[in-house]
Amino acid sequence: MAIEAPETIRVQLGGRSYDVLVGAGLLDEFASHAEGFLKSYGSRPVPIVADTNARKHHGARIEASLHNAGYRAVWYDVASGEASKSWANLEKLTDWMLGLGITRSDHVFALGGGVVGDLVGFACSILKRGCGFVQLPTTLLSQVDSSVGGKTAINTSAGKNMIGAFHQPSLVLADTTSLETLPDREMRAGFAEVIKYGLLGDAGFFNWLEAHGRSVLARETEELTYAIATSIRAKARIVAEDERETSGVRALLNLGHTFGHALEAETGFSDRLLHGEAVALGMVLAARFSARRGEISGQDASRAAIAIGACGLPAEIAELGLSCGGDTLVDHMRHDKKMEGSGTLPFLLLKGLGEAYMARDVELSDVAEFLDEELA
Ligand SMILES: NC(=O)c1ccc[n+]([C@@H]2O[C@H](COP(=O)([O-])OP(=O)(O)OC[C@H]3O[C@@H](n4cnc5c(N)ncnc54)[C@H](O)[C@@H]3O)[C@@H](O)[C@H]2O)c1
Repeated sequence: MAIEAPETIRVQLGGRSYDVLVGAGLLDEFASHAEGFLKSYGSRPVPIVADTNARKHHGARIEASLHNAGYRAVWYDVASGEASKSWANLEKLTDWMLGLGITRSDHVFALGGGVVGDLVGFACSILKRGCGFVQLPTTLLSQVDSSVGGKTAINTSAGKNMIGAFHQPSLVLADTTSLETLPDREMRAGFAEVIKYGLLGDAGFFNWLEAHGRSVLARETEELTYAIATSIRAKARIVAEDERETSGVRALLNLGHTFGHALEAETGFSDRLLHGEAVALGMVLAARFSARRGEISGQDASRAAIAIGACGLPAEIAELGLSCGGDTLVDHMRHDKKMEGSGTLPFLLLKGLGEAYMARDVELSDVAEFLDEELA
C-alpha cells in the first residue's frame, strides 16, 4: 500500500510535549515511527498491551513491522469492555510489567480503544513511579479524544474513572485504517466526540461536519483524516492551555457529558447506551436547555439535533424508552464528579453553535422540569 505522509500535531506541554501522528498505514510502519521508543529494549521483547479485538485485526501489522526492524513483541491481552479498567486488571498488568523488568526509561505500547489506553496509561504512571507509554488508538473515540491529553484511570465500585492520574503519552499513532474493522455503532459513538469539537468551539468545523459527516462515517480517507486531525488539533490546543483542568478551559470538553452521564447511569452503563451515544444525546439536551434559557435560538438547537440524528446517533430522549422522570436523572447528576461542595453543578451550555461556556447558575430544579418536558 502506498502510504502518504502522516499529519503531525504537536501537543505543546513544555518538557512533556509529544507528537500525535494521523494517517493511513501508520501501524504498518510502526517500528520506524516508534523507533526512538524501541531502542531501550535492545534484544528484550517490546511490551504491547492490546485489546483482544484490536490485536486480532491489527496485531500482525505491528508484529511484521517490528520483525523487519529486528525486534520482537510480547503481548498482554485485555478483554474487550469497560470491566477491564479494574483494580484486579491493574494489579495483573503491573505485575506483568514488573516481571518483564520494564524500567523507567522504557515505553509500554497500548493498542486499542479508550479502555486499554486508560488502563495502560495509569499502570505506566505508577510503575516504578512512572515509565513511558505510547498510544496506538484503534477506535474513533480514542483517536480523537482519549489517547491525547494524559487523563488515565480505572473504575471502582464508586464509579467510572474514580482512580487515576495525569500521565502524558510520549507519542500517539492514530492509524485511520484501523477504523475499517471498527463496528459501525462504535464508529458513530466516536463521531459524537468529533461533533463535540465543532459545537464547543469551531462553528466552521460544525458546518463542515453537517455536510461531510456521512463520508467520515463511511471512512472515506480524505474526510476521515481531516475530521480526526481537526479534532486532535482542537484537543491539543485545549490541553496545552489547561493540562490539568484547573482553569476551566479543559472542562469545555465535557460538553454534553453532564446530561449524558445521567442517561448512562440510568441505563446502567450498559450496551443499551454507549458513552458516545450518551454524549450525543447530552449535547442535544445541552443545546435545547440553552435555547430554553434564551442563549441560542430554537433553530440552532434544532440544527444541532438534526446533525446528530442524521448520523444515526440518538437525538431524542424518547428513543431510550426510559420510565423515569426528570428528578431521577437529576439525582444521577448529583453524583457527578463535577458536583461542587457548595451544591453547584457547573453545566456546559451553548452561546452559539461553536461557542460553549460554563454556566454556574443552573438550578437543578429547572433541569428536572426541562427533562420532564423532554421525556413527555
Ligand atoms: N482518558 C480520556 O481522556 C478519556 C476520554 C474519553 C473516554 N475515555 C474512556 O475511554 C473508554 C471508551 O473508549 P472506546 O470508546 O474506545 O471503547 P473501547 O476501548 O471499549 O473499545 C470499543 C470496542 O471496540 C473494540 N475495538 C477496538 N478497536 C477495534 C478495531 N480497530 N476493530 C474492531 N474492534 C475494535 C473493542 O474491543 C471494544 O469492544 C471509556 O473507558 C472512557 O472512560 C477516556
